[in-house]
Amino acid sequence: MSAVTNISGSIRRRLTLQLLGIAAVLAALLFIMVMTFAKQVAEESQDNILTASATSILDSAAIQGGAVTVDIPYSALSMLGNVSDDRVFYRVAADGKFLTGYEGLPLAKPPMKQESHSFITSHYLGESIRMVSATRRLSYASGPVEVTVSVAQTLKRQRETLERISTSAFYLGFGFFVAAAVLGVLTAQSAVKPIQVLADSVSRRGPQDLREVQAPVPAEMAPLVVALNRFMERLKKSLTRSEEFIAEAAHRVRTPLAVLRTQAEIALRRVERPENRASLKEMIRAIDESSRAAGQLLDHAMVSFRTDHLEVTQIDLLELASETLERHRPLAEMQDKTLILEGSTPPLVLGDVILIQNALSNIIDNAIKYAPQGEDIMLSVTTKNQWVVVSVCDQGNGFNEHDINRLTERFSRGSNAENTIGSGLGLTIAEEVVQAHGGYLKLSNRKNVTGACVSFYFPHS
Ligand SMILES: Nc1ncnc2c1ncn2[C@@H]1O[C@H](COP(=O)(O)OP(=O)(O)OP(=O)(O)O)[C@@H](O)[C@H]1O
Ligand SMILES: [Mg+2]
Repeated sequence: MSAVTNISGSIRRRLTLQLLGIAAVLAALLFIMVMTFAKQVAEESQDNILTASATSILDSAAIQGGAVTVDIPYSALSMLGNVSDDRVFYRVAADGKFLTGYEGLPLAKPPMKQESHSFITSHYLGESIRMVSATRRLSYASGPVEVTVSVAQTLKRQRETLERISTSAFYLGFGFFVAAAVLGVLTAQSAVKPIQVLADSVSRRGPQDLREVQAPVPAEMAPLVVALNRFMERLKKSLTRSEEFIAEAAHRVRTPLAVLRTQAEIALRRVERPENRASLKEMIRAIDESSRAAGQLLDHAMVSFRTDHLEVTQIDLLELASETLERHRPLAEMQDKTLILEGSTPPLVLGDVILIQNALSNIIDNAIKYAPQGEDIMLSVTTKNQWVVVSVCDQGNGFNEHDINRLTERFSRGSNAENTIGSGLGLTIAEEVVQAHGGYLKLSNRKNVTGACVSFYFPHS
């Protein structure tokens, strides 16, 4: 069978790649979401502590003796120290004037509306910091004083934490990708499986099998199967038409050929001149060739038709072989050939009598035709495992080893057939018949002695 040459892409590959792409995008999204959430949580928790710290410093601010005093509570800075080993800075200013702490800390942003504090992320002393600034207004006789407390913390620990989370998030994303990729590959495989099942079931069929595909298929494949079934229906009709045409043509040709042969025979008896006799003999041979070909074509058409509609009965092959053999006995005896039948009653075989008889006739005819005069032709019926084997063996020169593999093809004749009349359809018919019965045909040469053997293997019922 020739392979399909015009292949454009693969559904499974395309589906797999698409699913892998989706899995990769989802894994990346998962990673980004985890990281964004983790960063938010880390920042919020740091901001909360910074705010608590700044508020507690601010609470300790008071005006004593006309000056603003701040008694920084121990807990205000230790709460920041507790959660990390980052460095902590603070600055207290009153009405914008530096009071205590780290004077160089970046300036606070004015707080947003309704907020009493503001946050910035900046740099200080070469390190990244997060800083909160909170403001409180203290009342004094000469007017209110605005005290601003800024507390800042480096971001080292937060970055380390985020790095750890990012490694875990990466493994999580990667694991998700691998799981989704495996599922994607399995999904792609199961999506194209029905196509494979359909292709297998069609390619497993024999050459004559043009039945509709009836196995259940997914809805998406229904148009394909409908088209395939219609195509097979059309093919079947066209094959039947051409078989019928061949049978009709062969039938119409046979009768005039028979008349022509009789006339040629009569003419042969009358003419005496050697060259005329030679021409007439040549003519008779040509008529015999045509007549044989017409007969074989007719038989082949009948066999092709019947193999589609087998008329099955229980058959005793020994009995059938014996009957067929008796029909050929007169012809064999004319050529001094002895037909011998051996075998004991085999298991019954389910089959079409007319077809099997026709196939067997062709093989016996071959044995008589291709084996030299005065030899025995053995027909045996035996049982081997699940097979009932009918073999016809002769004592001729056997098959030519170069031809043996192609002799069952239509119109194929061996190199030993030059001087015999024939059309190259006998073995084709025999093989089609045995295959239609679920069996097979075997051609071989006899071992140790010369001669050909043709064996039918029929499964027994
Ligand atoms: N018993 C045999 N011994 C040797 N060669 C054989 C034998 N049977 C068949 N062959 C070879 O196989 C070829 C094919 O046989 P097949 O019966 O198909 O065609 P055919 O005998 O040539 O023509 P026909 O269709 O008239 O039978 C023959 O031409 C012959 O060369
Ligand atoms: Mg033949």
